[in-house]
Amino acid sequence: VTTEIRATALSELPVGEARRFSVGGDREVCLVNLGADGVRAISAECSHAHAYMDEGDVDVDDHTIECPRHGSVFDLDTGAAKSLPATSPVQVFGVRVEDDDVLVEVS
Ligand code: FES
Repeated sequence: VTTEIRATALSELPVGEARRFSVGGDREVCLVNLGADGVRAISAECSHAHAYMDEGDVDVDDHTIECPRHGSVFDLDTGAAKSLPATSPVQVFGVRVEDDDVLVEVS
């Protein structure tokens, strides 16, 4: 079963930046505001080792985020790792913006 959980207000999420929020208990997601291209949600932690993705650099045009620890770049649309050392994708969550609410799909 998939439910939508309000993670934050859109106004709390500056364009071009990533922020970490908990949704539904102890699950954490990294939300990224791509401006006109919308909001993306990926797992808060890198797939490679312990690092919080929201501390990485966002590229709004490429829809990517760079892990702050070892520099792997992840595709925010698919979660795919586009460069080493990470080889596994990060999880991607569905996101819907309704008025000022950012809703994340979790199962
Ligand atoms: S922890 Fe993210 S690339 Fe190593």
